[in-house]
Amino acid sequence: MLKAFLTGDELDGKELNYLLELAELFKLKKFDFKPLKGKKIVLLFQKPSTRTRVSMEVGINELGGYSIYLSQSETQWSRGESMADTAKTLSLFFDAIGARVIEHKDLEDLAENAKVPVINALSNRYHPLQMLADLFTIKELKGKIKGIKIAWIGDGNNVCNSLILGASKLGSHLIISSPKGYEPSKEIIEKAITYSKRSLGSIKLIDEPKEAVKNADIIYTDSFISMGMEREAEERLKAFLPKYQVNSELLSLAKKNVSFLHCLPAFRGREVTGEVIDGDKSEVWRQAENRLHTFKAFLCYIFLKKKKLDNLFKKVS
Ligand code: CP
Ligand code: NVA
Repeated sequence: MLKAFLTGDELDGKELNYLLELAELFKLKKFDFKPLKGKKIVLLFQKPSTRTRVSMEVGINELGGYSIYLSQSETQWSRGESMADTAKTLSLFFDAIGARVIEHKDLEDLAENAKVPVINALSNRYHPLQMLADLFTIKELKGKIKGIKIAWIGDGNNVCNSLILGASKLGSHLIISSPKGYEPSKEIIEKAITYSKRSLGSIKLIDEPKEAVKNADIIYTDSFISMGMEREAEERLKAFLPKYQVNSELLSLAKKNVSFLHCLPAFRGREVTGEVIDGDKSEVWRQAENRLHTFKAFLCYIFLKKKKLDNLFKKVS
């Protein structure tokens, strides 16, 4: 069983592909399958959420499990109880812990001390559940991930980091276009170079967005001011705007059938114009829906034995 899913890097290319196929079953075939019967999962959130929380709650419920949502302010964590003690306590009551934290280190402490799997529901550094939905959406739209050119425009943030880790294992061509000082971390880029060599993909950093989107199949952006970075708002907007905004002009430089992705929430007029996110190339609602299907696949993956999963495949595909 996967002990923790903190970055997205815990899964190799084969496992990712398997999960995406499983998610396809959940999306395309409506079947009554309750493998989580009797399983209890706690969702411990330190920051707001719309999509992650609801996809997790609905997904757990649809698979027959039971979830409890705890915001940090309602727990003793808000009064300084350590992550270690929190993890030990929650492990007594639950079969898994989903957590959204400000500092990734808190998630690592949680995982180190928990006796049950810990699932990252977003940290300042990674967003692996989002990555599963992103890869699934790209495959759904383009028929494959290998060879697909993904242009990430803007902040090299948590969503970008996990996407890079996953997409580079599946052979996509990643182009990252961020202002100086806002690129994804060196460690992630180095990993992606190694993974891309194996998967026959590639990763490049190109400062100029107009250059980066040339021939792109996918253009992806995220907020320039992530949760917790509000204090840096002014300097960030100065660094990103107007150059890194995804607008119609930028879109017109990509492939004709380019698709626009955004993990949401979006801030129209900043990282993307309303014309683009509400336009015909935008696939953000498909992407948001896919959070549910991929999370259900992920839950089965962590709770079911491989043999049981293979049987499920045979039965419904
Ligand atoms: N994409 C995403 O994680 O959205 P929420 O912050 O609404 O969960
Ligand atoms: N990068 C954004 C993602 C929100 C889902 C943030 O961390 O706020």
